[in-house]
Amino acid sequence: MAKETKDYSKYFDFSNAKVLSEDENGKRIRIAGRDIHIVSEPSYKEEKRRGKEEVQVLYDTEVPEEMKGFGDGRFYHITTYGCQMNEHDTETIKGMLEAMGYSFVEDRTKADVILLNTCAIRENAEDKVFGELGHLKTLKTENPDLILGVCGCMSQEESVVSRILQKHAFVDVIFGTHNIHRLPYLLRDAYFNKEMVVEVWSKEGDIIENLPKKREGMKAWVNIMYGCDKFCTYCIVPYTRGKERSRRPQDVIDEVRELARQGFKEITLLGQNVNAYGKDFADMKYLFGDLMADIQKIAIPRVRFTTSHPRDFDDHLIEVLAAKGNLVEHIHLPVQSGSSEILKRMSRKYNRETYLELVRKIKQAIPDVVLTTDIIVGFPGETDEQFEETLSLVREVEYDSGFTFIYSPRAGTPAAEMEDNVPMEVKKARLQRLNDLMAEISLKKNLALKDQVVEVLVEGESKTNAEVLSGRTRTNKLVHFRGPQSLCGQFVHVRITEPQTWVLKGELVEQVVSETAAALG
Ligand code: 5AD
Ligand code: SF4
Repeated sequence: MAKETKDYSKYFDFSNAKVLSEDENGKRIRIAGRDIHIVSEPSYKEEKRRGKEEVQVLYDTEVPEEMKGFGDGRFYHITTYGCQMNEHDTETIKGMLEAMGYSFVEDRTKADVILLNTCAIRENAEDKVFGELGHLKTLKTENPDLILGVCGCMSQEESVVSRILQKHAFVDVIFGTHNIHRLPYLLRDAYFNKEMVVEVWSKEGDIIENLPKKREGMKAWVNIMYGCDKFCTYCIVPYTRGKERSRRPQDVIDEVRELARQGFKEITLLGQNVNAYGKDFADMKYLFGDLMADIQKIAIPRVRFTTSHPRDFDDHLIEVLAAKGNLVEHIHLPVQSGSSEILKRMSRKYNRETYLELVRKIKQAIPDVVLTTDIIVGFPGETDEQFEETLSLVREVEYDSGFTFIYSPRAGTPAAEMEDNVPMEVKKARLQRLNDLMAEISLKKNLALKDQVVEVLVEGESKTNAEVLSGRTRTNKLVHFRGPQSLCGQFVHVRITEPQTWVLKGELVEQVVSETAAALG
């Protein structure tokens, strides 16, 4: 359970911290000679709260005039960990930094600002960040003017902030997922005051529209909602990302129209639980199916969405998706476990039978649908039989692919308090068996595509061979084929000649498919 009071002493010994001042602007402390200005800090208790206050939408949020030019002639580097939501936040951060005058630099040793946009979903994601901080300490020692920032989901964790204060005090700025728009001010303060600034909001703020975004390539992410109210017992996201807040339909639609106008070929609608879109609107009845129906009418060739929660996946949405057009026939439908008992303890709010019923409905409405999933093995107390139920569900659904994870306890979540008697070797062996099964099914599904002609959006050279082009089908399968570089960014038809487990190899049959044809499917 989340602890009632925030007390850093449970993580670290703060007896060496001296409070310098404390007022309505936060407190200033000194730890081992380093001055730290804590404007606001994360609190699990606050993050768990779900207030009834209405969320405001702010439109006038440009980077302030006085901050433009602050970064002129200076360089930034940002490393992104975790999910697409973080990737998209990084685009906003880049957009803001560039509006301030900063330019991106690949070589970190040349950067004036280095940011780590972090992920808290599993322990190994966090370990990577702490490892990286170790490397960055050297850069900071060589260049004391360098500003080092930590943002994203880890910043929202009490234990992480206290660990940085104690062990990585060379960090200059810590900010969270709710106050990205404050970055220009935080950088200014860190730069001029030469103290570490910690500003993390525990309560989600308003919805901020119109922040600049630096998008690259032919595919764009579009956020449709923020936060999650599902509180699956293993998951840290409802704490780090706050309560569910949907963007206004018109704002989403305007953004998609603009992306279509700019020539983007594919968009992915993002939310931690997109199927809950619109449930928070007090003034109208407009849900995810309604949004998809409206987006279907916009001339953007491909529309994806992620991530779905099976509980909120309603019949209207299935009906809209079945009409296809630009809505692709790929649904990522995380199941997490095939055992109703485990699902109950995960608080997933569906069981094996209702999940399978949903899958049946989807397959009936969209016979060529590709389903993918997320699965956690080794949840506390998972028995061999319960794991076998996961394997049998995977066999029954026949996912084309999936992300599989060993359960990782997250401080502050209910599952972290559950007794876990499953040894790590058993968890690893289960993961291996599950991965083997997923690979076997994936190959079977791909073999069925032999000699078929598929529509591919060409993304660029393949990673391993510059003469081979790489792209994706509507169902998000990776395709490799030979063809001229000029096809990048275009839709082509490819005949699959050599299907493999994770890639379809093929040959070009038609150079460019008209976008209208692509849009109409
Ligand atoms: N341990 C392991 N996997 C997790 N996920 C979320 N929280 C945890 C955790 N504590 C997985 C779920 C989710 C995906 C994004 O990450 O499968 O769908
Ligand atoms: Fe986490 Fe569950 Fe919300 Fe997904 S639906 S973000 S797994 S709490």
